Amino acid sequence: MSKTQNYLLLIDREENVLELQETALKYFYGGEIVLARTRDEAVKSLEKLGKPEIIISDFKILFEEKGKFHQYLKENCPHLPLIATTDEEKHSPAQENTLISSLLPKPVCPEELSHLVKSFTKAPIESPTHVPIKLRVARDVASGKFDFYLKLSGTNFVKITNKGNDFTDAELLKLSSKGITEIFIKASESHEFLRVWEQHLHERLFTKGSSLDSALAIQCLEQVERISRAFGWSGEAVLASQKIVKEAIATLSRNETMSLLLKKKYEERGSAYTQHVGLLCYLTCIMCAELKLEEAQEKLVMASLMHDLFIDESFYPEIEEWNKQARDFDNRSPEIVKYRLHPLHASQIAQTIDILPPDVDQIILQHHESPDGRGFPRGLSASRIHYLASIFIMAEDLVHFLDDGHALETSLKDYLTWGADRYQSGNFKKIFDGIRAKVS
Ligand SMILES: [Fe+2]
Ligand SMILES: [Fe+2]
Repeated sequence: MSKTQNYLLLIDREENVLELQETALKYFYGGEIVLARTRDEAVKSLEKLGKPEIIISDFKILFEEKGKFHQYLKENCPHLPLIATTDEEKHSPAQENTLISSLLPKPVCPEELSHLVKSFTKAPIESPTHVPIKLRVARDVASGKFDFYLKLSGTNFVKITNKGNDFTDAELLKLSSKGITEIFIKASESHEFLRVWEQHLHERLFTKGSSLDSALAIQCLEQVERISRAFGWSGEAVLASQKIVKEAIATLSRNETMSLLLKKKYEERGSAYTQHVGLLCYLTCIMCAELKLEEAQEKLVMASLMHDLFIDESFYPEIEEWNKQARDFDNRSPEIVKYRLHPLHASQIAQTIDILPPDVDQIILQHHESPDGRGFPRGLSASRIHYLASIFIMAEDLVHFLDDGHALETSLKDYLTWGADRYQSGNFKKIFDGIRAKVS
């Protein structure tokens, strides 16, 4: 996009909120919509594309780390319309003296948003007859509530599902196997659709006691689906993984200590840690299915949930630096020694949990070992690393390559090139060859 083109910058950490807001905006904003999941991503877009017509940002991102992003906007685009979105009832008076033009409740309020955006922007608004919705959203949110259409050409749509009839997994798989990612509803029903979606998301995000599996899924399922498509993994495996993750959490939660630990750890919705663990749960689970190791799926999910139970959330932004220092065995500073031993501590706790299947503690213990023998805590050589731990390590490497997920295609390509060099021995080679074989 050139610097002069109209665009709107939309910022939120949660994939589902971003997706809902983007869909809502598409229905009444005529310019380009650029997404950012973090402050850094937003700043990168602003520097690359110039000033947008308007910024819609999550309130917390504006004011995290002593208001760094708000300060940046104050210095660089002080007169830009800025809409903040929030899921909290009140904000402190100290934050009243800000650039914010309006504060809207999250996930989205289509009427107010459309009114505000239209009053601030000039981009022409097209009036489509039909608007797109993602297949997964059609199944999870809108099934049975709307007529669904398939786009045949520019203005030609054909009805495929009637209101009142469920949009099933089988239909979703049939369409996605043909490379179709979206179906359509009538534009006249778009407000009702957004209302239903918002309600659904609101219940999943903000209801007290909402289950852990949905907290994890809501963070990352969209990304998991995109990765799966790129790797040529089956749609069935992605669907099945949701059930397996749910069951693994239910099994672990039967142990009272574990139930408390997990709840405490994942109550911070939208955190980097929840995003990391969510991705690991789904990716390890789907990788197992692709390797025909269905019996190991639950073990990998459990290990994903527990592997960093004793790492504080604040470590996550710098986790690669911690890992690098922990691999340097000459570094004996107390905090690095403690970090180096976190796999051991987590595996010791795992051993005390009677309901845990075998191997889970081994995966946890070895999750920072490395095929070149330079991992920690024990520096095991590739041939001594457990087969299931090898899958875990490779999935975690992949998650690190994905970073914040904004350049997915490039990240996956880089991972495959890097992996060809790294995974040359032990179980790693066999697993990697299996993964690579399916990539088209
Ligand atoms: Fe991790
Ligand atoms: Fe770890």
